[in-house]
Amino acid sequence: MIFRQLFDRESCTYTYLVGEEKAKVAAIVDPVREHVARDLQLIEELGLRLTHIFETHVHADHITGAGELRKLTGAKSYVAREGGAPCADVPLDSGDVVNVGEVEFRVLATPGHTSDCLSFVVGGDRVLTGDALFVRGCGRTDFQNGDPGVLYDSVTKELFTLPEETLVYPGHDYHGRTVSTVGEEKRHNPRLGGGRARESFIALMNSLDLPPPAKMAEAVPANRSCGEI
Ligand code: FE2
Repeated sequence: MIFRQLFDRESCTYTYLVGEEKAKVAAIVDPVREHVARDLQLIEELGLRLTHIFETHVHADHITGAGELRKLTGAKSYVAREGGAPCADVPLDSGDVVNVGEVEFRVLATPGHTSDCLSFVVGGDRVLTGDALFVRGCGRTDFQNGDPGVLYDSVTKELFTLPEETLVYPGHDYHGRTVSTVGEEKRHNPRLGGGRARESFIALMNSLDLPPPAKMAEAVPANRSCGEI
């Protein structure tokens, strides 16, 4: 498996490229519209063909590159059925398994940041957690049907029950961190680790009082149409 972590400095978004050498195919997860040319160049340099475009959720802080990538490559876009993005080619449900060549993407519903959040267990040894779980943090829960109790259940029941050595690749990082493991987050995540109680997490998240993301009014409707506006 070929695995690359790409970054958007403006929104601190991670995009992931997953390639499979035998079939020479690639999937991209959470592409950012401003980086379509960068991502296509990398795919070409690696000798791959883009076939799958996954979203972990309908984002509020950046516009997806899915629409443009789909137009340019013919790849199919995969978004949670729950997400209200009728533009998607394939709606995803929890438990679905999508094969990219011989690499398996196993879909886990991990709502709470938004109601449509998915995580993807990729190749059996790593999980792309979107905005459900960050390295030493988690996504906010104050818009797009976010719910801290639901997020607590997603993280503790779905993600923290994966094998401890599972690599955790988040959807964002604001502090220069790149990757962690399930075991590390269970022990050291200041919001969700160390056995924090559900009620305490809910109180913490409800006290954050964060400003709305700068691009929210533009990004949410754009992403419901796969960035094709
Ligand atoms: Fe998000």
